[in-house]
Amino acid sequence: MSELNAVNRRVCHTNVLTQALAISTVVLCVGFIVRLSCQRKVSLLLVRVQDQANTDRLMRVIIEQREQIKDLSQSLKVLQQRADDTPTIKYPKRASDDLTGVLIGTDDECGNASSLDAVMLVHSAAGHFSRRERYRKAYTNGTLVNGQHKLKVVFLIGHVLDAQIQIDLEIENRKYGDTLIGVFLDTYQNLTLKAVMGYRWAAEYCGNTKLIIKMDDDVFFNVGKFFDTFWSEKTHSKRSIFCNVWEQAPVGRSGKWKVEKDIFANDTYHFPYCAGFFIVITTDLLVPMYNAAKSIDFFWIDDVFMYGMVPDVLGGVTYWQIGQKSRKITEKYKDYKQCRVKKGISGCSYWAVLTDGASQFDVEHEELIKHEKTILKTSSAL
Ligand SMILES: *[C@@H]1O[C@H](CO)[C@@H](O)[C@H](O)[C@H]1NC(C)=O
Ligand SMILES: *[C@@H]1O[C@H](CO)[C@@H](O)[C@H](O)[C@H]1NC(C)=O
Ligand SMILES: *[C@@H]1O[C@H](CO)[C@@H](O)[C@H](O)[C@H]1NC(C)=O
Ligand SMILES: *[C@@H]1O[C@H](CO)[C@@H](O)[C@H](O)[C@H]1NC(C)=O
Repeated sequence: MSELNAVNRRVCHTNVLTQALAISTVVLCVGFIVRLSCQRKVSLLLVRVQDQANTDRLMRVIIEQREQIKDLSQSLKVLQQRADDTPTIKYPKRASDDLTGVLIGTDDECGNASSLDAVMLVHSAAGHFSRRERYRKAYTNGTLVNGQHKLKVVFLIGHVLDAQIQIDLEIENRKYGDTLIGVFLDTYQNLTLKAVMGYRWAAEYCGNTKLIIKMDDDVFFNVGKFFDTFWSEKTHSKRSIFCNVWEQAPVGRSGKWKVEKDIFANDTYHFPYCAGFFIVITTDLLVPMYNAAKSIDFFWIDDVFMYGMVPDVLGGVTYWQIGQKSRKITEKYKDYKQCRVKKGISGCSYWAVLTDGASQFDVEHEELIKHEKTILKTSSAL
C-alpha cells in the first residue's frame, strides 16, 4: 500500500502574498506581490507515496505553481475586472466518480470499522491546520470520548495549487493519517464533491459502523453527552437523518451562498434539508445516498444537495429535528454559552455548537475538561 520516500532536493521557498482590494462595488482590483527566493539545500521530505501516478501529479502541480509564480514575479501586476464581468463558474453535470476520488488517503482506512460506534466526517478547508490540531487534541486524547464508545475522526480536504500548503497537507497526512485529500480543488463551489467523496470513502470502508456524523471544523462537540443521551434511543432508527432541519427555506440570492436563477429558479426549496454544521446519519443510508448523489444533477451547495435533493430523490428517509426548539445542537454560540453558564454542562441539553473555531472552541473544551474532572472526583468519593 503506502510507502514512504525520503527525497533530498533543492527547494525553492516561495512567498506569495495575494492582496484583494474591493475598491468599489463595481471595480475589483487584485494585486499580486510575489517573492521568489531560492534557498540552500534543504532536506525534503515526507512525501507520502501511494502510487507513482499520485507522486507525478503532485510534482506536476509543484512545477506548474513555480512557473506561474515566475511569470507573476516579472512585474507587479494589477488585474482589473468589473465585478459584473466575473466569468460564470462551470459546474460539473454530476458528482461523478472521476471528480470525487481520493488523492491521498488515511493510514488505516476506517480502522476496525466493526468496533467503531461512529465515524465523524469533518469538512475542513485546506488551510485550517490549527483547527484540525484543536480537534486532534479534543478527540484523540480520551478527554471527550466516552469510555466504552469509539469514534473515528476523518478530515475531508481538497487539494490546493499553492505548493507550500500542498506540501504541508502531505506532511500532516503522513504524521496523523487522518485526512483524505480529494482530487478536486478545495473551494466553496466544490463542497458537494467533498461531501460525496466522504460518502464514497465511508461507504467503501466504514459500512459496519452504526452512525456517520458529518460536521464542520469549527463545531464543538460534547461526545460523551451525545453518547449518553442519544445512543440507546436512536441508534436503531432506520434511514434517518438527524440535524437542524430547514423546511420551505428561501433560496439565497445574495452573498457568499448566492444561487443564480438559471441554476435554481424556484424561490424556496420544496424539500427539507439540513444546516450542514452537524448532522447524524444512520449507516444504512451511506450506499444509497452515495449512489443517488452521483446520478442526480449536480448542485454546488452541499447542504442542500446532500441533505435535501439526494434524500428527496431517494425517498423513504426520515428527518429528525435536533436543532431549533429541540436544543441538541445550535448555530448560535451565544445560546449555548448562556445555557452552560446558567444550567451547567449537565443541565444543558446541547451536544454541539458552532463556534469561531478558535477561542470559543478552546473555552468550551476547557470547561468540559473541568466538568469531567469534577464528575470523576464525585464518583471516586462515593
Ligand atoms: C474488530 O472489532 C471487533 C469488535 O470489537 C473484535 O471482535 C475484533 O477482534 C476486532 N478485530 C481486530 C482485527 O482487531
Ligand atoms: C492529554 O490530556 C492530559 C490530561 O488531561 C494533558 O495533560 C495532556 O496535555 C493532553 N495531551 C494532548 C496532546 O492534548
Ligand atoms: C473544482 O475542482 C476541479 C478539479 O480540481 C477544478 O477543475 C474546478 O476549477 C473546481 N471548481 C471550482 C468552482 O472551484
Ligand atoms: C419548483 O417548485 C415546483 C412546485 O413546488 C416543483 O414542482 C418543482 O419541482 C420545483 N423545481 C425545482 C427545480 O425544485
